[in-house]
Formats: sequence, structure tokens, C-alpha cells
Amino acid sequence: GAGLAGSTGANAQAATAAAGAPQGNLAFPSDFLWGCATASYQIEGAVNADGRGQTNWDVFSHTPGKVANGDTGDVACDSYNRYQDDIALLKALGVKAYRFSIAWSRIFPNGRGKPNAKGLDYYNRLVDGLLAAGITPHVTMFHWDLPHALPGGWQNRDTAHAFADYAGYTAGKLGDRVNHFMTVNELRCFTDLSYMTGGKAPGLKLPMKEVNQVRHHGVLAHGLGVQAIRAATKSGTQVGIADNPNIYVPAIETPEHIEAVKKAVREENAMFLTAIMEGRYIDSYLTAQGKDAPVVKEGDMKLIGAPLDFLSVNVYTGNTVRADESAPSGYKILPHPGQAPRMPSPWLYVTPEVIYWGMRAIAENWKPKGLYISENGCSADDKVAEDGKVYDTDRVMYLRNYLTHLQRATREGIPVKGYFVWSLMDNFEWEDGYTKLFGIHHVDFKTQKRTPKLSADWYRELVRTNKLV
Ligand code: NOJ
Repeated sequence: GAGLAGSTGANAQAATAAAGAPQGNLAFPSDFLWGCATASYQIEGAVNADGRGQTNWDVFSHTPGKVANGDTGDVACDSYNRYQDDIALLKALGVKAYRFSIAWSRIFPNGRGKPNAKGLDYYNRLVDGLLAAGITPHVTMFHWDLPHALPGGWQNRDTAHAFADYAGYTAGKLGDRVNHFMTVNELRCFTDLSYMTGGKAPGLKLPMKEVNQVRHHGVLAHGLGVQAIRAATKSGTQVGIADNPNIYVPAIETPEHIEAVKKAVREENAMFLTAIMEGRYIDSYLTAQGKDAPVVKEGDMKLIGAPLDFLSVNVYTGNTVRADESAPSGYKILPHPGQAPRMPSPWLYVTPEVIYWGMRAIAENWKPKGLYISENGCSADDKVAEDGKVYDTDRVMYLRNYLTHLQRATREGIPVKGYFVWSLMDNFEWEDGYTKLFGIHHVDFKTQKRTPKLSADWYRELVRTNKLV
């Protein structure tokens, strides 16, 4: 308007923005890294090939009643034999990075001892194939498939040491070509959901004293793993973790609720990410657990709190938090209302804002050097249409919404450097077997044919233009 006459371009722009005019540019930073993610047991199959040892998930999935339909990862997407097809999918999407995990039991069939060269060769072929296609490998060392031969699993402190030996050995072999390593994936899932509530392998429901010890062994494995990977690789190698902290959305966007989210993220992850970022168990956790608190050895917390090059976060969902002075913690976590929208996985409430608020709370609490979204995506009730295509408009909606809020984070300078869709293709969804599928590519499990869904077309466009509109 007339009032802007004579003002500088920048001021005019600010005035326009203040007046509420659309900004029109939902671009991501020019060096933003787009990728896709998978995990070994969920895609590889070939469970008896080339000397691979048995894992906890082989045993669990073959135990009647543990996995939907009695499904197993015996064949899955057969990526052990078809990794070149997977690389072709990534190439066609135009993504610059691929996050996959290494099956510990292919490298050390018994968890420790003599390495199995044939198992390692698979990952050499995969890494070389990715690099030849111009795709950067981001490697997770442990995504839940634990060698069954390790006595006591994560209840045994020795498992953390065995993990570090395996991670150091493997990083040493791949570290001439791989620059990004994540120690473990989702602490809460391979501890609490596996040893406390028991939905995941090995399916135990232990008392809290023992659960806290399992949790401690999980974060200790991470810390020892960081040390071992650093010792085995060239300087400049990036070492981090892919975790799934509980993250939250403020009830409304006012200072007291925003502060409540920040506090809740720190307190609710006290036994996992907070311990790693701060190198100690905070008082509220130790007080709450009392005599059930974990046994911690001299030096453990220093290892657990070793500085990381980056932090990767798997983002799916989060509750709303509101400030509440009457609560001892100063906040309350609200349950999801009955009709709140969710995807077919019953835990997957659609909460796109959580990607922004989660990253912001993490950045403000701990100032990590770099942040990645190591997973985001959803199950959907996919149907193959008559033309053979899957029109997963609901997954497109889900992704578009989450990414809009991620774009807000990058726009505001929160240092998120990259994003990996879960998942490149339909795969074995743990205790849900093949009843909940997260792929942006459809997999026909009879023929192993991979077909891009509408969401893959959408993601390819996003990667190409680097912006949402
Ligand atoms: C997180 C896990 O890391 C991954 O293995 C799983 O498939 C997805 N969430 C979806 O549940």
C-alpha cells in the first residue's frame, strides 16, 4: 500500500509478511539431504545364507502367537539377493542417501568370536553399489536383530561389550567408504517393548529393576559403540544414534506450554536420550525408580555421554503436553481424544506438528551439532488398483503434513540436515508381520516385484524441486 512507498525492499517484505500475506516458498535448504530407510531383518530374508547366525527375531517370529499371521522375516523383500533392485529404486527417486542396517549375525554368527567374511561381503557389495549410483550410505549398526547365541540378550552387560566389538570391527571394514554410522536404533523398542511389555523379541515382562538394567545396557552399548567406531575409522567419520525419544506438541503455542514440552522431552526420556546427551541420569528418574534404579559402574556415564557428531530421530507421533502448575513435574501429557485421526497402526496418531516441536525441544535442550530425521512415514490401508498402481493418497497427505512442519523447523534455523522416509518399500513390520505396510514402493511378496506407489511419485517430485509448493 501507499504506506510502503519509499521503504527498502527488505522492509517492504517484512511489512507484507506482517500483514499475513502468504510467503509462498516452502523450500528446504539447498544442501538438505533426502533419503529412504530400511532395516536388515525387515527386508533381507536369506536367513540361512552364507553362514548368517540365528537372531532373537528368527526365534520370536517362529514362536506361534508372537507375530500376526505367523509371518516371519525368512524371505521378506529378499534384499540379500535383490539389493541391486533396491538401489535402482533409490536412483529413480533421485534421493542422495540410503539408511540401512547391518545384521550383526551375518558378521558374527554367534555374536562374537570369528568374523564371517561372506556376511561382510554382502555389505561391501551394497555399499559399493550405492556409491556407484551416487547414493551416500548411512549405516545403523543395530536395528533389533540380536544374535541369539548371546546369553541373556540385553539382560547381560556383556552384550554391550560384544556389540562394541562387532561395531568396531564392521566400521573398520566399511569406514573407508562409509562416513555416517549410527550405533543403535530406537532404545525404547529393544528395551522396554522387548523386556517390559514384551510385544517384541524376546517377549519378556520383567520387573522394573531388571528393566532399568536392560535400559542401562542399551545406552551403554551405544556409548561403547561410539568409542569403538571412532577408534576403528578415519577422522571426520560422523558417529551418532537413531533414537525415538517421546516428543510432544504444546497445547497451544504460548510460552508456558512451549516450555512444558521442552521439559517433558527431557524428563520422559531420562533413561535414554537424556542420559546420552547429558552423561548422567537426572534426579527425577533416579528418585522415581528408587531401589529399582540401574546398577551403574564407574566410567559408564562418561562413555554413555560421549559427544556425538549428529543425532538422528525417528518421528512418527506424539501426544500434546500442557503446562500444569499443580503437577509435580509442572506439565501434563494429554491422552489422544477418542476420534483423533490415526493410521492403521493403532499407535500411529497423525500429529504433523510433532516433527517441528520435537526437533525444536531437542535443539533447545541439548544443542546437538547436527540433526537428522532418520525415519518418518506411516502404514496405510493400501490396495492395488486395476492398473496395478497403489494410490495411497492418505500416505501422501501424512507425508506432506509432516514435511510442512519440518520445513518450518529448517526455516527457523533448527539444524535439521536431512530426512529419511520409512520406508523405501513394504517390509516385515515386526509383531505386525506383513499386515501393516509402510513402503512408498509396493512389494508383491509372491513375485518380489517392486512398484512405486503414488507416494513415491510425490516424494520424487519433492526431492527434485526441494520444496513443498
Ligand atoms: C521404527 C522402527 O525403527 C522400524 O523398524 C519400524 O518398522 C517403524 N518404526 C514403523 O513402525
